[in-house]
Amino acid sequence: MRHVKNRRSFMKSAAIAGSAITLPALQYSRVYGANDRLQIASVGTGGKGWSDLLGVAASPQVEVAGLCDIDSSAKHLGQAADRFTAARQYDDWRQLLDESSDLQGVLVSTPDFMHAPISLAAMQLGKNVFCQKPLTHTVLEARQMRRAADKFGVVTQMCNQIQSHSAYRTAVHLVHEGMIGKVREVHSWQGGQPSWPRHIPRPSESDPVPANVRWDLWQGVAAERPYKIGMYHPFNWRGWQAYGTGQLGDFGCHILDPVFKALEIRSPTKLTVDAPELMPETWTDRATVQYEFPGTKYTAGSTLPVTWYDGVGVSPPRETLAHIPSDAKLPGAGSVLVGDKGTLVIPHVAMPQLYRPDQSVAADLPVIPSVDHYTQWADACRGMGETTSHFDYAGPLTETVLLGTIGIRFPGQKLQWDAEAMKITNHAEAQQWISKPYRKGWEPNWI
Ligand SMILES: NC(=O)c1ccc[n+]([C@@H]2O[C@H](COP(=O)([O-])OP(=O)(O)OC[C@H]3O[C@@H](n4cnc5c(N)ncnc54)[C@H](O)[C@@H]3O)[C@@H](O)[C@H]2O)c1
Repeated sequence: MRHVKNRRSFMKSAAIAGSAITLPALQYSRVYGANDRLQIASVGTGGKGWSDLLGVAASPQVEVAGLCDIDSSAKHLGQAADRFTAARQYDDWRQLLDESSDLQGVLVSTPDFMHAPISLAAMQLGKNVFCQKPLTHTVLEARQMRRAADKFGVVTQMCNQIQSHSAYRTAVHLVHEGMIGKVREVHSWQGGQPSWPRHIPRPSESDPVPANVRWDLWQGVAAERPYKIGMYHPFNWRGWQAYGTGQLGDFGCHILDPVFKALEIRSPTKLTVDAPELMPETWTDRATVQYEFPGTKYTAGSTLPVTWYDGVGVSPPRETLAHIPSDAKLPGAGSVLVGDKGTLVIPHVAMPQLYRPDQSVAADLPVIPSVDHYTQWADACRGMGETTSHFDYAGPLTETVLLGTIGIRFPGQKLQWDAEAMKITNHAEAQQWISKPYRKGWEPNWI
């Protein structure tokens, strides 16, 4: 087993976090020189975290100073430690933050339920944060992330990296250029087959915790339960309500992203979900969420219906897709924006197709090149340019997705959302799911 530093004192982290609130000098984004190398640490170095780390470290102006993972094996901490040999190694993010005075940025690539606790603590220390999608596990956490980024003046980026791909950037451009006119409805879907546990009860048996895994640290803010091989760590946590956000949470912040960017929508005012009854602990394998948003300058009416569909093989009803020939093949996942001058299909992930009112496909469309989502954050931390999925954008997008996951608990019931008050105004029981209980001693340090 690798030598990693163990936990010293989370209370010390919390105390530092509190004092950081009064120390604007720690807001490196304001004082960091353009010629200095950005010192960063990664929390969650395996899975997607590995490509996050490589993506950010691709910038020659970035130095990897810290690595943290609860799993010391080769696919997790191991490969990162072998690659970035000068970086300090940790298994506990609280200790990493205790010893973070040289760091200006933290990458958070853990399972969804740990994004906010780690990111909030990092931002309270004045660290810039690059965090995986969905930004958080609850609506309250998403709101807190947005507030923290604003309050501490740090540079933030959610990793819905397809936003920076030519395909999504081109789609947004076409809408902004008025090429489909004003948009009257949107359909977004994910028809793929999830590979994680769905519709099952909690396993009644347990397995010994492998020597390379710190199971207690993996569980973090969540209630404790026994370890079981193949059920939670790695990857399969997605299917469990305690840790993940199901198919909508996994893909919503990607697939709805060009819809939010193109139409400049922010928060729905109501939603209704059609879904089978939820098992007590796992997410459902099918859901349709009908959102209603206030209209914007890009929409045809004063309100905009946006419908999300997930389930194996699902796609929007063809009769709703004006301008698209009935024999046209739709992608397995993506969005359709129906406008008064045409309809835009935005596959996940491929170049958009624009159908004209005569059902012909538009040719010779402009193409907007990709930018680098990872180094965009590193550059912005160094005072060069801005991020496009900063938490003021990613927060409301994630809140919308997570409101859908609340709706899945109350199928068929219309939920009315007052975004400013952060309240589901007509449903006290649904409102309780805006937040969740935290394991004693692990409560986030709210701002
Ligand atoms: N943007 C994308 O395209 C994309 C793709 C895949 C995953 N993701 C997101 O990335 C995140 C991670 O997903 P994954 O599939 O890589 O999960 P995973 O379980 O395969 O990997 C998570 C990594 O974090 C480590 N880890 C877990 N808890 C930790 C903790 N408390 N402290 C330090 N390390 C910890 C694990 O050991 C593992 O190395 C999720 O939020 C997921 O939604 C995004």
